Amino acid sequence: MIINELTVRFGDVTAVDRLSLTVPEGTVTGLVGESGSGKSTLARAVAGLVPHRGTVTGVDRGRVQMVFQDPYSSLNPRMTVGDAIAEGLRVPRARRGAETERLLDLVSLPASCAGRRPRELSGGQRQRVAIARALAARPDVLIADEITSALDVSVQGAVLNLIRDLRAELGLTMLFISHNLAVVRYVCDAVAVMRHGRLVETGPVDDVITRPRAPYTRTLLDAVPRLVRN
Ligand SMILES: Nc1ncnc2c1ncn2[C@@H]1O[C@H](COP(=O)(O)OP(=O)(O)O)[C@@H](O)[C@H]1O
Ligand SMILES: [Mg+2]
Repeated sequence: MIINELTVRFGDVTAVDRLSLTVPEGTVTGLVGESGSGKSTLARAVAGLVPHRGTVTGVDRGRVQMVFQDPYSSLNPRMTVGDAIAEGLRVPRARRGAETERLLDLVSLPASCAGRRPRELSGGQRQRVAIARALAARPDVLIADEITSALDVSVQGAVLNLIRDLRAELGLTMLFISHNLAVVRYVCDAVAVMRHGRLVETGPVDDVITRPRAPYTRTLLDAVPRLVRN
């Protein structure tokens, strides 16, 4: 996926400013930056959800799926988990049950979850459902926007492991947004550092974390524990 000179304005605010970034197929690119740097706006523009200038090529916009920070607000409370997942499927009706079960299994949830509603699940389980629902459409690109930020620390690791497993299993092409460089190092191949709507640094994740070039990246790194940087 090639993002070229993407710009998003909200009135006088330029949330994304002529940003260019390539996410190679089958790889996971992290996008980091402090709150308000434009990460979510970039994600939504890439998915075609907000008006923008510039181009996104190498992927059909309809084949981009997003997973958001708060699975509770992205899942319809009145819909069962099974129906929420089945909604995204592109298989004949007769195969939906089996395919929903396969997706639940893929995100390590029991088939019995299909009949539950979001409020009956834990935060971590809800996020697994949101991931399963996004995968149901067999997206070419998956965008994950701070998907562990709202979860208890105790379940964040499990969701990150799930992303790593899915990536190995499905060869996902992913834009993985996080303000946490430790998390990005765990999940991503490359990282792009965003500030005020622009990229200040990009590169292989280990290089950027062990040898940051931009002063801003160093500031971000100073905020995470030392063990992440070694
Ligand atoms: N719908 C919107 N209307 C007006 N301004 C917005 C809207 N969405 C985001 N912004 C502004 O765009 C900038 C980037 O926001 P956002 O993309 O949410 O950053 P991040 O995800 O990095 O925290 C911020 O200044 C924010 O206030
Ligand atoms: Mg955001």
